[in-house]
Amino acid sequence: MITDLWYKNAILYCLSVESFMDSDGDGVGDFRGLMRRLDYLHGLGVTAIWLMPFQTSPGRDDGYDVSDYYSVDPRYGTLGDFVEFTQGAKQRGMRVLIDLVVNHTSNEHPWFKAARSDPKSPYRDWYVWSKAKPANADQGMVFPGVQTTTWTWDDVAEAYYFHRFYEFQPDLNTANPRVQAEILKIMGFWIQLGVSGFRMDAVPFVISEKGAKVGKKPVEHFDMLRSFREFLQWRKGDSIILAEANILPKDDMKYFGADGDRMQMMFNFQVNQNLFYALASSDTGPLRTALKQTRPDYDTAQWGLFLRNHDELDLGRLTAGQRQTVFDAFGPDKSMQLYDRGIRRRLAPMLKGDRRMLELAYSVMFTLPGTPVIRYGDEIAMGDDLALPERNCARTPMQWSDEPQAGFSTAKKTFLPVISDSGYDYAHVNVAEQRRDPNSFLNWLERIIRMRQEVPEIGWGEFRIIDIRDAAVLGLRYDWRNNAVLFLHNFHAEGSAVSFRSGPRRGEPGKLVNLLSDDHSEADGDGRHHVTLEPYGYRWYRVGGLDDAVRRTEM
Ligand code: NOJ
Repeated sequence: MITDLWYKNAILYCLSVESFMDSDGDGVGDFRGLMRRLDYLHGLGVTAIWLMPFQTSPGRDDGYDVSDYYSVDPRYGTLGDFVEFTQGAKQRGMRVLIDLVVNHTSNEHPWFKAARSDPKSPYRDWYVWSKAKPANADQGMVFPGVQTTTWTWDDVAEAYYFHRFYEFQPDLNTANPRVQAEILKIMGFWIQLGVSGFRMDAVPFVISEKGAKVGKKPVEHFDMLRSFREFLQWRKGDSIILAEANILPKDDMKYFGADGDRMQMMFNFQVNQNLFYALASSDTGPLRTALKQTRPDYDTAQWGLFLRNHDELDLGRLTAGQRQTVFDAFGPDKSMQLYDRGIRRRLAPMLKGDRRMLELAYSVMFTLPGTPVIRYGDEIAMGDDLALPERNCARTPMQWSDEPQAGFSTAKKTFLPVISDSGYDYAHVNVAEQRRDPNSFLNWLERIIRMRQEVPEIGWGEFRIIDIRDAAVLGLRYDWRNNAVLFLHNFHAEGSAVSFRSGPRRGEPGKLVNLLSDDHSEADGDGRHHVTLEPYGYRWYRVGGLDDAVRRTEM
């Protein structure tokens, strides 16, 4: 297998232009501001930036309601600024992925306006209509508690239109070949402007059959995924799609494609939820199961791993009991919960700012099978503002310094307020201060990223769960091209003395070389290792008898 699949050993960083850096003092982040921060991202070790939607939008769902796919929202800059930005990223060796939101448009998109006002418009069939109220109108809401229906009456069209999400996000009729052709055109446009691919929004809904008569099991058009990939690879061979698809493990390969011909990457929601359960309960059993269930195909398929993202922490795939355990630990108050299934907080406040747990969570995320995705602000352990509605609580401006507005903007008022009280205020939590402090979380993360980059076995290799009898400790080993690495993570607030064999074969070199400190491990006469882990402790080892921690074999 060729090793130029760049996403196999990438470090992704997700940000929204709006909240990162404001260059013109209007209180809203912009591309010119972001450009000033490219060196920061490069220095952190980021190899690819994922931009959340920045196209023209009424902004009622933070840009996930696009009204012009071929533009930059004027609040963030111009297309010219965008190209300068992708060029700036390229100069520093970083790639750019952008959100592709084509399950739906904004109701202010000209296509929808034309569709509703004229039944004969060629755009009429770009959306999904019904004269009568469909029987399934009160089913399948993505935002329960906020959204009450999936079909809304439109006075102008004199019909109901279908919307999987909010009522201002009418679903595109993605089965229509003209809509499909337009999706390819949108991808082709941004590819020309320098991106390396897309984070595709709501993929299961994009490919699902839509309409008033759809039953409980809608037909899924997987052939669409193949055509997206084929098109992209013709236009630019190394471009990828990272799919947002919160699906059951049994369906994973339908999305990756059994022949590796559909999505290159997907977010691993199954592992994400079970990882939070392990953090909440100290029981890694369900996480081990999730890892086995989602064992990736080691061809071109790759998981995207994350802790928190811009949405709520969705716990919908856990059992009711497991979900309650996570709520009790990390979001006990109703105000911290959202959509009957998740927690809307940022990671640091969920973990009560406990540095040991933060390190554990990141260390695990960086060593699970896949490619890590960091969310802006989490590298300095930013907090949230629960006074803000829904998911906005975790989308506040980046905290750069202790200057007014956290150094994000010179405006009096910013698009969302900066966090200025609680222990997470910008006077205490900011980049400038953490850069100066060698023991800061930011500097710890930078070192871990550097080490993760030197361990490509994780992204490429085959993993095995190490037999460790303590359910609170997860042991993982990866083998690839005659190299092996081994990781231990203790999810318990108490220390744990563990004993294990590093590999399946007796007679393997008995030494585990610690990659993060000089605390190595030698096997006993029986080939077993004995390691005492601190509360929430972790170890990164290279397997072998080498005196140093540097890989010897060519990759
Ligand atoms: C998933 C996105 O992550 C979320 O933020 C958005 O609201 C919905 N898709 C609708 O686009």
